Amino acid sequence: MLWGGRFRKNLDKAALRFSTSFPIDIRLLPEDIEGSLAHAEMLSKIGLLSQKEFDDIAGGLKKIEKEWNGSAWPKDLDSYEDVHSAIEARLYELIGDAAGKLHTGRSRNDQIATCERLWTKKACLQIKSLQVSLQKTLLSSAERHTETLMPGYTHLQRAQPISLAFHFLAYMEMLERDKNRFVHVIEASDSNPLGSAALAGSTLPLDRELTRQILRFEKSTANAMDTVSDRDYFLDFLHACGVGMMHLSRLAEEMILWSTSEWNFIQLSDEYSTGSSLMPQKKNPDMAELIRGKVGRVYGHYMALSTTMKGLPLSYNRDLQEDKIPVFDSFDTYCDCLEIMTGMIATMRVNDRRFESELAGSFSLATDLADALVMKGVAFREAHRIVGQIVQFAEEKGQKFSDLSLSDLKTIYSGFAESDLELLKIEQALKRKKTTGSPNPDLVKQQIERWRKTLTAK
Ligand code: ARG
Repeated sequence: MLWGGRFRKNLDKAALRFSTSFPIDIRLLPEDIEGSLAHAEMLSKIGLLSQKEFDDIAGGLKKIEKEWNGSAWPKDLDSYEDVHSAIEARLYELIGDAAGKLHTGRSRNDQIATCERLWTKKACLQIKSLQVSLQKTLLSSAERHTETLMPGYTHLQRAQPISLAFHFLAYMEMLERDKNRFVHVIEASDSNPLGSAALAGSTLPLDRELTRQILRFEKSTANAMDTVSDRDYFLDFLHACGVGMMHLSRLAEEMILWSTSEWNFIQLSDEYSTGSSLMPQKKNPDMAELIRGKVGRVYGHYMALSTTMKGLPLSYNRDLQEDKIPVFDSFDTYCDCLEIMTGMIATMRVNDRRFESELAGSFSLATDLADALVMKGVAFREAHRIVGQIVQFAEEKGQKFSDLSLSDLKTIYSGFAESDLELLKIEQALKRKKTTGSPNPDLVKQQIERWRKTLTAK
């Protein structure tokens, strides 16, 4: 036990079971050892550990990490309060009394903050690389589909024709913002807590700058009390996971819709589909549904930790130990979802020509026709009314836009010319778009080119 001096009895068994975080924070073992090695090196530099003591401590810590990697330790997750106390106890077993010097000038309060900040920086980098893989996969698919027509929707009603490439480029933007959110989380966690001790620093001449350098933190934290109480970087992390999951859920939902027989736009690979135990014909998009469904738990994790933090008096309180499950589970969930989504996109088949004839027969070019009238000097509201009448005229005759003749158009507005009939054909629809950020295939190709460059530069 770490704090036995003023106690006569051991912690009650049920109380230990209730309060231990060891089964969960065991995954911080590499960070705990990294932090302890840095702290020990600093203690030896300032003369509080002899060379021999430092060598014993460093050797022991490395041995513990090896034992853990080889699953030789720990045998019992129930008998320690947390990863810090378990490692210290094992260090005593391995090197004897010198283990008692490692905790000099350190509290588990700055120790856990150090572990968590180190872990967060690594986790953000891992997430970013999965986000980049998904972006690369979306980009490859976009490259193949700059002219794959599909309806763009508002209100889930067909609005204007777009391409699948254009649609995927929208997700590229979302993923880029998602990545930037994690860049911010890295900044928020990039400060060295060591030397803050329990809450008020130390009377020992601890060299905070040295541990900062060894652990490669950008800076050291400025206020010891804030240091041991702060979990804002975790809340930022959970928020970033939540928004990232929300974006994945939107893509998942679209894939679910697109793979229905009503849409029949994509087929998901067998590798990412499941069957029904009852209906032999069924092929279900379960992976996409699970991605959509798992957003709930990640949102919940933000709520859990922000509620734990609310009203917490300074500085460290044991409540803070509740931070780990939400953070680790959000990380695991988001990583899994990114990976599965990448696999689904990479392996799905697209029905390239699915919407061509339907779009040709639809009124989705009505806005283009109104724009053409504007170019002739007609006020937009008037143009809107004229085209509305044309739609009504065609509908009443049971005709498509592309069936209309010049004289049909002229019965409604005399200023139409032969060349305007071209506007009713779907083939040129995307190419006519002029504005940057539109689905014009040339502009889409430029965007793809830009993404290729940025993604390979990183
Ligand atoms: N397991 C604890 C946590 O995760 C470590 C810090 C414990 N500090 C303490 N004073 N009991 O928060």
